[in-house]
Amino acid sequence: MRQLVAKYGSPLIVMVETTLRNKYQSAFGALVARYPRVQFAWSYKTNYLKAICRIFHEEGALAEVVSDFEYDKARSLGIAGESIILNGPIKGEPLLRRAINDGARIQIDNHDELKLLERITGTRNEPLGVGIRVNMNVGHEKGWNKFGFNLESGESHRVIEQISRSRSLRLDGLHMHLGTSIINVETYREGAKKLAGLACHAHERFGIKLCYLNAGGGFAAGNLPETNGCIEQKHTPSFEEYAEAICDSLQNYLPDTSNPPLLLFENGRALVDEAGYMVTRLLSSKTTGEGTRSIIVDAGVNLLHPDHLKHIKILPVQTTRRPAEPTIVYGPLCMNTDVLSEQAQLTPLDRGDLLVLHPIGAYHISQSMQFISYRPPVVLLGSNGEQDIIRRQESLESIENLEQLPGRLANNN
Ligand SMILES: Cc1ncc(COP(=O)(O)O)c(C=O)c1O
Repeated sequence: MRQLVAKYGSPLIVMVETTLRNKYQSAFGALVARYPRVQFAWSYKTNYLKAICRIFHEEGALAEVVSDFEYDKARSLGIAGESIILNGPIKGEPLLRRAINDGARIQIDNHDELKLLERITGTRNEPLGVGIRVNMNVGHEKGWNKFGFNLESGESHRVIEQISRSRSLRLDGLHMHLGTSIINVETYREGAKKLAGLACHAHERFGIKLCYLNAGGGFAAGNLPETNGCIEQKHTPSFEEYAEAICDSLQNYLPDTSNPPLLLFENGRALVDEAGYMVTRLLSSKTTGEGTRSIIVDAGVNLLHPDHLKHIKILPVQTTRRPAEPTIVYGPLCMNTDVLSEQAQLTPLDRGDLLVLHPIGAYHISQSMQFISYRPPVVLLGSNGEQDIIRRQESLESIENLEQLPGRLANNN
């Protein structure tokens, strides 16, 4: 890490290609060993740097996108419409029309979208195959109910009936996304059982033979959050444990296991988080009024999203025998809320020392913001020791690129 910082500066984001590919292959391997037809779709929002998307596409992933911007990104990377899953709670008419023309898989989120699609497709000769998003109570975790049609209330059943009567739409798939960092595999066992139950209902009541079931994302990454030094749960499930829970449930409850639907996954975090490292430099140290040591480092909450901070470990690059002590870690922003950890355990460090924050590959880059300072470069370490900058450091020019100074305000110095 020291050599990398000497070359590219600090802070620095490092992504490790071998980890990306290994994670993808082990997750896929675990699932395909238990279910005959599995397909991954890369969740763009988790990390949409072109190089990262390209690596997952090379491994065989489709693109899972949730906005015009992400759709544009996938298309500009050369991803064909049929290889795009269009998700998200809001899809405007122009985007829907484009997705239909390109042959993308649209997963309907709500009644307004369903109505809009029925209007857009009203004049088609062939019905358009669509999926619907379903939310459900899975008992073990606080369910995500923002997205899709509710199962327990019968709403998803009514939507299936409505689509079965439509002349311009055909139901091809069901989708669930149960949450993120789900560490209880029973959540998936229950979710898969309910989704398979809904597929049975569609088959028995309306003769619908689904082409795909989409189990969404949500697998946890390796690092578990710690609270006051105690680990909340001892164990992040392995990909095999997730696979066993989901595939067992599907085999038990699907209507026709001789010709099962394609099983889609949209995992983000579990494939990319551990591949990402943030290297940061200590800028200054203080002792608080209460006597706790605090340090300021050069990466702040502009680069590390507060929602995902509790998963991150902070480790000094240089090891020392001196005992660790409780340390507050602040970022460099001129804001009191720029805190990376209230309770890191760190050995005494000096100005200029380097620390590594890990894992940071999921959501931090895509949710980072340009605020106060330039965002740092991102370097991809290749399997054969290659070092490639996959996002350059921001500059005044790149940031001001979209700004315009009205003529009446120019040259007034
Ligand atoms: C529809 C959908 N699929 C997949 C994902 C990826 O989730 P995760 O990173 O938890 O695997 C998300 C993230 O929120 C999502 O909204």
